[in-house]
Amino acid sequence: MEEISQKDCRGRMGGTEEPRMESFFDFPPSDDKIAPFVKAKAFGPSGVPAPHRERSRGMNFDLSEEQKMIQQMARDFAQNEIRPKAAELDRTERHPAEIIEKMGELSLMGIAVPDTYGGGGADTVSYVVALEEISWGCASVGVIMSVNNSLVCDPLKTYGTEDQKKKFLVPLASGKKLGCFGLTEPEAGSDAASQKTTAILQGDEWLINGKKNFITNGNVADTCILMAMTDKSKGHRGISAFIVDCRTKGFSVGVVEKKLGIKASGTAELILEDCRIPRENLLGEVGQGFYIAMNTLDGGRVGIAAQALGIARAAQEAAIEYSKTRVQFGQAISKFQAIQWMIADMATELEAARLLTLRAAALKDLNQRYEKEAAMAKLFASEAAHRITHKAIQIHGGYGYIQEYAVERHFRDARITEIYEGTSEIMRLVIANNILKGK
Ligand code: CAA
Repeated sequence: MEEISQKDCRGRMGGTEEPRMESFFDFPPSDDKIAPFVKAKAFGPSGVPAPHRERSRGMNFDLSEEQKMIQQMARDFAQNEIRPKAAELDRTERHPAEIIEKMGELSLMGIAVPDTYGGGGADTVSYVVALEEISWGCASVGVIMSVNNSLVCDPLKTYGTEDQKKKFLVPLASGKKLGCFGLTEPEAGSDAASQKTTAILQGDEWLINGKKNFITNGNVADTCILMAMTDKSKGHRGISAFIVDCRTKGFSVGVVEKKLGIKASGTAELILEDCRIPRENLLGEVGQGFYIAMNTLDGGRVGIAAQALGIARAAQEAAIEYSKTRVQFGQAISKFQAIQWMIADMATELEAARLLTLRAAALKDLNQRYEKEAAMAKLFASEAAHRITHKAIQIHGGYGYIQEYAVERHFRDARITEIYEGTSEIMRLVIANNILKGK
């Protein structure tokens, strides 16, 4: 094993060459390990640790000015344009086209796509903070935005050719068109490699046949990133990714599902019957589709974690406000410890979920591995959202169970975050696999 000296260790951890303490792991160090002047500087004459800044550079948890601006812009938009319509959208189950159009104008539909390709030119952290705000406004709008950004623009940006980017990415990232991600099939849910949809190269065209289901935006999308089997004998290595124009002959929308929550977001079946697309609409290489899908879903999971944060925060805020005005036994229920403990748990879980989500996003921005961190963020944020929305209803009592109060919707909306883009069980599997492989 490589030997790391204390000096090297200090360098790697961002410290200085100044001899401050013998070991980072002996704290406080024994007298014989430390020069008196160093001890006085770091610990003070009494041996009590001096202020934190003497020993550590700390960690920066602050958003940059640009990230804060994007967050504020998304918050204002959610407050003014989305929240007032959220209950109506849930009731009518209509696609919020007018909201999505305005979000396109604000670069929210392709935040992390370079502006040369029609996007916002920002980073993943900006995407995550904006998505939390939009989902705080309405979870359905949140997932429409998440799918377009994470599952459609991102793979086009990463794997697309220059021509594909000009033709497909520019209108999608600028919000003029909307995308969907065609991976799931009736028999390929958690087992995503079991693709039955086939694509066969015939001359200059791919002939695609098969069925996809539970496709978010499927009923309203213009473009689909579609996975299909090009060589069954190779298993997951025989899957390829394609860019399909949804107006292509042979491409149709089947059942549009009735759901428990996120009702204004369309969830549709896609039917491909002798659908022919140009040869150049292959995304990436032949046989690269499963890896593209998995890599894309890593980013998607960070987005769903952010969606869960937005839903949970909306529920928490509603519960806190309600607890301050609801009087029982002669006082506001917020004065009761039973309620205070619930509020404390909600706030702590929300904060923990946000930190996990931002960390995964930051790793993506640094081009580091973040598969495990994305799964942890989605797992924790989605299950926290479940618990937080559950408590929000509990604090509201009977009023939380009726549609007049928003927490009833938040509870229904939160549930899906534990299921789509990988169930909690798949998230645990991904996390465990990474840990056991030492990643
Ligand atoms: N990035 C890149 N490559 C990856 C990867 C990742 N995150 N995860 C796995 N791979 C690679 C592996 O390294 C392996 O490579 P080799 O070919 O070199 O061996 C290959 O992919 C196969 O990996 P596994 O053996 O682990 O694959 P598996 O078949 O056992 O499946 C799984 C792994 C994690 C269970 C995966 O199938 C999965 O994530 N399932 C859940 C599917 C899912 O999330 N569906 C959501 C649908 S989309 C949706 O919901 C969108 C919407 O509309 C909102």
